[in-house]
Amino acid sequence: MKVLFPASVITQRVRELGKKITSEYQGKDLYIVAVLKGGFMFASDLVRCVDLPIRIEFVRLSSYGCSDSPQHEVRILSDIEGTITGRHVLIVDDIMDTGHSLVAFRKHLEGKNPASVKICTMIDKTCRREGPIRPDYCGFRIEDGFIVGYGLDYAEDYRALPDIYVIEPADSQREEEHP
Ligand code: IMP
Ligand code: MG
Repeated sequence: MKVLFPASVITQRVRELGKKITSEYQGKDLYIVAVLKGGFMFASDLVRCVDLPIRIEFVRLSSYGCSDSPQHEVRILSDIEGTITGRHVLIVDDIMDTGHSLVAFRKHLEGKNPASVKICTMIDKTCRREGPIRPDYCGFRIEDGFIVGYGLDYAEDYRALPDIYVIEPADSQREEEHP
């Protein structure tokens, strides 16, 4: 594994995002919906960098269907508890890859009549994106690669690492050969 974004760079970028969000939502209350498990670390850092009245909720999503299949079903394992009618909602997650999970979840939240729903991800990974979808806010954009750390996992490992790493093909191959 190789460090792609060290913790110091992440901290700086989260501060910049916090400032941007603070200025763009000026005068409004923000309803943060953090997606577990991957978004836990980013969300907890981000809310401390946003100078606005904030409410925060946590949800769990699970997506079915493999990446080669056009059928992706996103299930909401645990939904928000409060009401978001008339509120400005910001979904916070670790990464947007194909975009299926977050687009489906945004649609679900839009059905609850919020004032707005936007998406903020730490990473915007573009190479497998299906359709013209982009997170409204993102920390870093990468083209490809499997990354871990700062909430992101590989088979539930590495989430707690403070830096973001890219798993080089040789690493995953080694694990497959010698699990
Ligand atoms: P989607 O393809 O945008 O729906 O993303 C589905 C989920 O795949 C994300 O929320 C992540 O949990 C996971 N994922 C996609 N790419 C990576 C990665 O590079 N590292 C870790 N998890 C990833
Ligand atoms: Mg995730």
